[in-house]
Amino acid sequence: MALLEHDLTDTRALTAQRIERMSLGSVSKLPPVDTTGLPDGPSWPAWMQTVALFRFRHWFHPWLRRTYGPTFTVRMLPGGRPFVLFTRPEDIKELFAGDPEVFHAGKGNSILGPVMGEHSLLLQDGGEHKRARKLLMPAFNGQALRGYHSLVTDLARDEVAHWPADRTFASLDRMNTLTLEVILRVVFGVTDEQRLAALRPCVNATVDVNPAVMLVGTYPLLQRLRVFRDVVANQEALDRLMYAEIRERRTAPDLAERTDVLSRLIREGVDSADPSDRLSDTELRDQLVTLLLAGHETTATALSWALYELGRDPELVRRTQAAADASARGDAEGDAWLDAVIKESMRLHPVIPIVLRTLQEPATIGGIDIPVGATVGPSIVVAHGEANYERAEVFDPTRFLGQKPPTNTWIPFGGGVRRCIGAGFSLMEGVAVLREVFRRYDVTTVGSDEPRVRNITSVPRRGARIRVTARG
Ligand code: HEM
Repeated sequence: MALLEHDLTDTRALTAQRIERMSLGSVSKLPPVDTTGLPDGPSWPAWMQTVALFRFRHWFHPWLRRTYGPTFTVRMLPGGRPFVLFTRPEDIKELFAGDPEVFHAGKGNSILGPVMGEHSLLLQDGGEHKRARKLLMPAFNGQALRGYHSLVTDLARDEVAHWPADRTFASLDRMNTLTLEVILRVVFGVTDEQRLAALRPCVNATVDVNPAVMLVGTYPLLQRLRVFRDVVANQEALDRLMYAEIRERRTAPDLAERTDVLSRLIREGVDSADPSDRLSDTELRDQLVTLLLAGHETTATALSWALYELGRDPELVRRTQAAADASARGDAEGDAWLDAVIKESMRLHPVIPIVLRTLQEPATIGGIDIPVGATVGPSIVVAHGEANYERAEVFDPTRFLGQKPPTNTWIPFGGGVRRCIGAGFSLMEGVAVLREVFRRYDVTTVGSDEPRVRNITSVPRRGARIRVTARG
């Protein structure tokens, strides 16, 4: 497990280069955009609209829809750039089908660059994105997911076995612990207890990323402040552990049999003469950190909302317990109910409010001409609401039982060539976790909760508090 001294220096340099290269400096240098003819929107200052769009998404998106109709324009920082939001399924379909050479997503995610790195799937566009997606996809196909299932189930069973009976606790905290463990073991494939113990705090600090790190490159003097130095030091520590794991895994004697995501990614293209068919150490590091940041808190949040909604209704709890028992016996109907629960939870409480595409050439969506440089995207918040669902405010998993909602009205994972690569993974994990919870416990929600924005996800403000008692 020890790293050679030159590896340490090497890793430190890689971390420093990434943070400097990927910080936000370049975004403010984008050319201005012609906004003539764009749909209406508020005329408030751009900073106010940006804050409202992200921080107060739960009332601002529906308010925009009511005030300006199904398509509206918001001005965003930096520089009041136009962001045109679409909410009609037919327009969202056109948007997701847009040419990936024109509809770039990577630029909109560039704020994540210092942490995720330039090779991150979330940050790439065009040919680079296509190549990385092709290399990553096999690790997330149906067969691979079936391979992860039993380890996810074991981790979920271990976690819920330790829940305190008859005491109120925040289910979000427990779900965060569990989904982190799933990423470390099932995605990174780390089994060494010492390394797991070293990774957990680094990974927690990375997930809790201080937005300050994004400004280090723009204002180098800020690097002298303690908060920045701590962030960079944590990044260095995480990178050191990740590179050590990657380098050891490449030569692991059991690499061929290992089923974790990292081992699969390392095996990709090993027989090919073309090095571009394989992922380098830096690419692997960037993709792993991306999977961690994209897959951990998002899945934990969706699960805690599901527990919150179920625990408010004893009838739903009984039905979910019956489904969990059936699912444990291998009955597909049991799985179908648990799957419907997690999907309805993602509809009612969308974890991510919007996805972004920045136009590299002018394009027409829903009959509206949008200029080059403008950003477009669907409002997931509005698409999941009363515009497309009856009694939209009611938690009702039967909406997803034996039926699919109309295309582009359920889009928690975005869409098109950028659709979340971990969608199947998180649904599989959701079903496994709900099964283990409801096989064991009666669940009751304690008090009410409401969404609060944490980083980019909408989490339950009070942590979705629940009480559990062992089933009779
Ligand atoms: C409830 C759980 C999750 C939600 C709500 C979610 C949501 C999303 C959304 C909205 C996007 C952007 C899609 C777009 O631009 O059209 C995305 C992309 C992505 N997600 Fe997820 N995600 C979840 C879980 C996961 C998991 C478990 C992983 C991996 C282990 C993951 C990895 C990724 C990656 C790598 C991308 C970038 C895809 C690309 O740009 O090609 N996500 N996710």
